Amino acid sequence: MKRPSAPFFAPAEQGGATGQLPPEGGGERVGERVAAAQRQIAAAGSPATARLDAQVLLAHLLGVERSWLFACPELRLSPEQIAQYSALIARRCRHEPVAYLTGHREFYGLTLAVDSRVLIPRPETELLVEQVLQAATQAAPRSLTVADVGTGSGAIAVAVAAHAPNTFLYALDNSCEALAVARHNVAQLQLEARVRLVASDLLASLPDPADIVVANLPYVTSTDYPQLDRDVRDYEPPQALVAGPAGLDLIERLLAQLPAHCRAGCLVALEIGYNQGNAVQALVQSSLPGATQFVLRQDYQGHDRIVTFRL
Ligand SMILES: C[S@@+](CC[C@H](N)C(=O)[O-])C[C@H]1O[C@@H](n2cnc3c(N)ncnc32)[C@H](O)[C@@H]1O
Repeated sequence: MKRPSAPFFAPAEQGGATGQLPPEGGGERVGERVAAAQRQIAAAGSPATARLDAQVLLAHLLGVERSWLFACPELRLSPEQIAQYSALIARRCRHEPVAYLTGHREFYGLTLAVDSRVLIPRPETELLVEQVLQAATQAAPRSLTVADVGTGSGAIAVAVAAHAPNTFLYALDNSCEALAVARHNVAQLQLEARVRLVASDLLASLPDPADIVVANLPYVTSTDYPQLDRDVRDYEPPQALVAGPAGLDLIERLLAQLPAHCRAGCLVALEIGYNQGNAVQALVQSSLPGATQFVLRQDYQGHDRIVTFRL
């Protein structure tokens, strides 16, 4: 797995934001350079995102909004900026994800720092956040304890804390490296008073019983893993992705831990793989016969994605 040399926002010589607008006169025009970068990225195997990637990376380098590039295609880049941009494009052509190159990703309206210590938060996971926020809103003004198991960048925990003031979050992960990224995000968003980070094997070290358990745990099967897109397989942490032959090892272990860590009526909300709905329902029925209100929801593509039930 490749790791960037700096944990968050890479300095300029490694392809980070210079925040310097192009000087007058001189080198190559912005519009031409972006078009050339688009062709390079497309030829390297990412045609669908090539244009957007080329624009996002130049906007990041210059420290401007992407729309600025459309307004000023005639401005010329300095030789230093061209060199820095070329280095970023070369990394993208080796399939390094754009979010690791820029050092951040938008999630549920928040800007989160990400690097190769954590999974890049996905739009589908916002559906999981919605389930938790719905339950928190219904329970308000009662205060709820929420456990975010496998917090990674802290995406789910900070999104819930930022949008539901009646929640206190425990953000759990067994990766100290991931917890360092989550700690940064919690601090950036000034949520330290309501999000506590805990090093834990799933729920094992949860300090208090939970009213809501939310988890986006690894669910890729060990046979599917080698077939994943290179962007994912070669750069994102395998321990954030793979969960045994059926992709269910961690979910199964979590289900077994739930009774010891949940209050009566606890809402459990899990993200699952696109074809795991029936298997997860069978696991819940066999390991938690008292579970009620089981619902399987699909994502924007119509794939199985979110399971909720109550204990
Ligand atoms: C799919 S990522 C999800 C990250 C984040 N919640 C998100 O949705 O973007 C799964 C996370 O689970 C963590 N994890 C894997 N095994 C774990 C375990 N046994 N106990 C706690 N966390 C675990 C990984 O380190 C990783 O951060």
